[in-house]
Amino acid sequence: MGQKIQAVKGMNDLLPVEQKDFKLTAALWQEFEMTVNNWTRRYGYSQIRTPIVEQTGLFVRSIGEETDVVGKEMYTFSDSNDKLSLTLRPEGTASCLRAVVEHNLLYNGPVKLWYMGPMFRRERPQKGRYRQFHQVGIEALGYEGPDIDAEIIAMCADLWRELGISDLLKLEINSLGNREERSAHREALVAYLEQHEAILDEDSKRRMYTNPLRVLDTKNPALQKMADEAPRLSDYLGEASRAHYEGFKKFLDGLGVDYYENPRLVRGLDYYNQTVFEWTTDKLGAQATVCGGGRYDGLIEELGGKSAPSIGFAMGVERLLLLVKEFGSLQVDAAADIYAIYQGDGAALQVMRYAQKLRAAGFDVIQHCGSQSLKAQMKKADASGTRFALIVAGDELATDTVTLKDMRGERGQVTIASADLINTLQGWKQA
Ligand code: HAM
Repeated sequence: MGQKIQAVKGMNDLLPVEQKDFKLTAALWQEFEMTVNNWTRRYGYSQIRTPIVEQTGLFVRSIGEETDVVGKEMYTFSDSNDKLSLTLRPEGTASCLRAVVEHNLLYNGPVKLWYMGPMFRRERPQKGRYRQFHQVGIEALGYEGPDIDAEIIAMCADLWRELGISDLLKLEINSLGNREERSAHREALVAYLEQHEAILDEDSKRRMYTNPLRVLDTKNPALQKMADEAPRLSDYLGEASRAHYEGFKKFLDGLGVDYYENPRLVRGLDYYNQTVFEWTTDKLGAQATVCGGGRYDGLIEELGGKSAPSIGFAMGVERLLLLVKEFGSLQVDAAADIYAIYQGDGAALQVMRYAQKLRAAGFDVIQHCGSQSLKAQMKKADASGTRFALIVAGDELATDTVTLKDMRGERGQVTIASADLINTLQGWKQA
């Protein structure tokens, strides 16, 4: 026997059944995908599907060379034919914008796009953090806001309601201002950090010049006071940025969306400006952020397109579904309607014909395959969770009848003319 080969660490199989250390099933996932399809439609978003592999330069230029994602976490390899450096996408925004610019999708004005699929980051795996994970994201391109900023937040809140997890999620918001405001603040911040260099930990020292805003995001308790008293970006915002942020909050108030202003909220990717936000939970341990996003008004231009102010977000599907599974209300109805069983010469073909007719009439039918005793087949029917069993054996064949069994209800077992099969089951199913 050959040696077993295992899945890559941090990359999960999605099975019909729960696994010991990964409880999400394909059925729950599928139900979620259907919910997302309807939800994005309700808000006027169109789907975009881009390749999983892109040129490495796309992510370096958009996400930023100094970020953890680009600096440490990308799966990068060279294409052996032409020595091109390629990377498994670590997120969806860059690919989405690359496609928009390449295909000139903004030619007729703003567009609203959504996507769903696997992303790859070489992080240390733990519950809620994987090396292959999945995102559902939206990007609203060509909109200045702040109306759209608030609408996409309300859109998230709507989905949380539908999934039954509203009470578990907290919305944090902040404004990062524009580039000039950020650079004035950065200068002041670096000077402040230099004054406190003696107490900084290694991580903070490393980030001090490359990404000083991230230093304020430190989880180190010894640095909290220093971080609390650091120069605040909000004090450096100009009039237009302030007005945008105030407008955004007014819309949220008007829409009845609760939020918490976190002046230290910064995002892990470099392309953001103005509005940023995260939805967090205290139910997933360290992996608290379920959904994050914000404005990236300069990114399309940076990727070679015509300037178009834009905003978007992405949610981690695994994190979200871990919450939904434990606390939410997404109904998963995995069982088929009918289990079809048979015994005796000619019965197999006959029961398969009935099964095809039933499927054409809209029923989900599991056909038993292989010869087994009626009793054994009945056990399988029971275990399958279907509501009804269809039985064809010698008697039924001889008299052109079928036997139906109501597996979960009160009707028991009845034998009827085969011509009445569909009508009878339609009546049973609806009752
Ligand atoms: P992000 O914050 O890097 O943003 O990722 C969005 C979400 O993906 C996170 O909040 C988290 O739920 C999930 N996530 C990230 N890394 C992992 C991981 N290793 N394992 C499991 N889940 C993970 C973005 O990616 C931006 N592109 C969002 C965006 C869209 N901004 C504007 N438009």
